Formats: sequence, structure tokens, C-alpha cells
Amino acid sequence: MQFFIDTGDIEEIKEAVKWGLIDGVTTNPSIIAKTGRTQEEVIKDICEIVDGPISAEVIATDTEGMIKEGSELAKIHENVVIKLPLTEAGIAACKWFSDNDIKTNVTLCFSSNQALLAAKNGATYISPFIGRLDDIGADGMTLIQEIRHMYDVYGFDTEVLAASVRHADHVKHCSMVGADVATMPYKVIKSLFNHPLTDKGLAQFLADYEKSQK
Ligand code: E4P
Repeated sequence: MQFFIDTGDIEEIKEAVKWGLIDGVTTNPSIIAKTGRTQEEVIKDICEIVDGPISAEVIATDTEGMIKEGSELAKIHENVVIKLPLTEAGIAACKWFSDNDIKTNVTLCFSSNQALLAAKNGATYISPFIGRLDDIGADGMTLIQEIRHMYDVYGFDTEVLAASVRHADHVKHCSMVGADVATMPYKVIKSLFNHPLTDKGLAQFLADYEKSQK
């Protein structure tokens, strides 16, 4: 499973890249707003740090506007992936981008039928939002499983990019049900390292080593 980091915080990205685990980056307008910088500035900086797919989201809500905005974003760097909302306009824009060999990430997906539309129009990635479904009492992981099954049945190339990942258990289950990618906030990636028995065991090994040196 590929690991994308879901942030616009350059320091977090630099730190995570040092671990050697980061395959790509996702952003959204809320993430960019937190940086206090323009999307173009943030995306340019990220492209210098990570050599992999970097999602940048359009703000336009009509197909023509999405195509115009996305085409500008695509000029920033060859790794930029155009993030489009799962609306009628977004799905139509997805078809235009795929016909023009520009990669897309169709976002705000909350049903397998929505995922079917994105795949039919050649989306590079579909982003089902697990955490936001869990928040309303639905089961985000079931959606990942349904989409995985549907894409496998028809041999769609669209990659399942699990988004709105909130904790380590989400990551474990995403990998077990075959998500192609999980995009995670920095703190979720960092939490994957943790186990109290690792800390305890290492402390013991180091203490025994010290004793053996006396
Ligand atoms: C990523 O592409 C999504 O925009 C992001 O994972 C949403 O996460 P949230 O539901 O925690 O805001």
C-alpha cells in the first residue's frame, strides 16, 4: 500500500520524507488555508521535496472553470494531480483531464456508485472519505471494500485512495482490504511506529548492554 501524507505543512512533509515512507502528498482547500499561503506556493514547495503524485484541488464548481483551473495547476509540475469534487461538473471535468492525459483524484466520495462514475471517466484516483463516514455512524471501511471489489470485477485502473484516515486502525484495515493508497495526516503516520513493547524491549536491551560493558 502506498503512503501519501495529507498535509500542506512543509516541515511535516520533510520529516516524514526522512523516514523513507512517503510516496505522494494530498492537499485540499482547508489544508492549504491552514498554511496562510497560496496553493501555488505550497504545491511548488512540496514538488521540490517529494517526487511522487501531489494532489492540488480546484475551487471552481463548473466544468469549464475546473478545466481552466486544473490546467493551470498541472503546469506547476509534472507530478501534480488535479483533485476534482465528485459532482456532475467534476465527473465531466475528469473525463476531459483523462482524455488529455492529465492525472486526476476524484474527491469527496461517499458511495460505491460515485466511485463507479469516477472510474468510468478514467480517474487516476478515487478518494473515499473513511473518517467522515464513521463520524455519521456509517462504516467507512465497508465502502473501501465495496469499491475494491467493484474495481476488481471490472478491471478498472483507478486506484483506491483511502482518505479522511483518522487513526492507526484505519491504516491497518485499509491495507487488509486492499486500498492502493492511504493518505494520512502526519500524526497518524507517526503513530504507526508506536508499540509499548518496542519501547520496553529496547530499554531492556540498552540496559543489558550497559551492564555487559562494566
Ligand atoms: C484527502 O484527500 C482529504 O481531503 C482528507 O483526507 C480529508 O480528511 P478529513 O476528513 O480528516 O478532513
